[in-house]
Amino acid sequence: MRVLALLDGTLVDPETPLFRADDLGVTRGDGVFETILVADREPRELAAHLDRMQRSARLMQLPLPDRAAWLRAVQAVVDAWPWDQERELALKLVCTRGIDGGDGTPHGFALGSSIEAGTLRKREQGVSAVTLERGYEPDLMERAPWLLLSAKTLSYAVNMAAMREAESRGADEVIFTAADGSVLEGPTSTVVLARGDELLTTPPSSGILEGTTQGALFRTAERAGWRTRAEKFPVADLHSADGVWLASSVRLITQVRSIDGSPVRADPQLHAELARLYESNYGTG
Ligand SMILES: Cc1ncc(COP(=O)(O)O)c(C=O)c1O
Repeated sequence: MRVLALLDGTLVDPETPLFRADDLGVTRGDGVFETILVADREPRELAAHLDRMQRSARLMQLPLPDRAAWLRAVQAVVDAWPWDQERELALKLVCTRGIDGGDGTPHGFALGSSIEAGTLRKREQGVSAVTLERGYEPDLMERAPWLLLSAKTLSYAVNMAAMREAESRGADEVIFTAADGSVLEGPTSTVVLARGDELLTTPPSSGILEGTTQGALFRTAERAGWRTRAEKFPVADLHSADGVWLASSVRLITQVRSIDGSPVRADPQLHAELARLYESNYGTG
């Protein structure tokens, strides 16, 4: 199932071609996007996603259409979704820089899609991961902002290539590492580990995307007595942790079962607790 809306709130047949061949999003991956989970009509972390899209756009000097336009498109998709058939959707907000040599008007849409079977399987069964080099020092973001390291741009070809590399090695997921050996993030997820009464993640200053799902988890975990920290850590800490998760909007809090072929601790009770803390942010929790 797919539902497509434009920024003026009109619905369009999702089979309709929307982009010109000379759109900079098509020819250069020049644009930004967000993927949001909508569950039981509630777009989760919508404000955080819109803030992050604004930040990504600012980093690449892209004039993002105003918030009201995105909210209109989101609402149009939510209103048109067949909720009696499917209680969740993955909502993609996309904005390109528009036509090459044009007047600079950005081009955006909101596309709601069913959750893929592979995603549901990862949520339920957990994942195997491999560590792959990302090839930069964690302080590069500050030195070279033009590399857009912490922006969610449309240029995800490297991230998708890394996923294929993982699959070719028989794994489900990737954990990127920096040149100093510290843990960065997944190609579409944030790494979280548990250690005693503490949850740890990589700081956005290392050039990773600030995760809305990890943010939501930490928010309720803190209220429940967990200590939370965003601090650089080495790969060895994944192996000695009480548990490792990949957090992302559509995959939720996915338990990691093995890394580079070695099992990591995957306690079902701890997993259930973190999943419950995350869910408790929302009406269904
Ligand atoms: C590179 C990267 N890191 C982390 C995340 C997780 O972010 P969120 O929890 O907001 O979905 C994503 C989401 O797709 C991502 O692409």
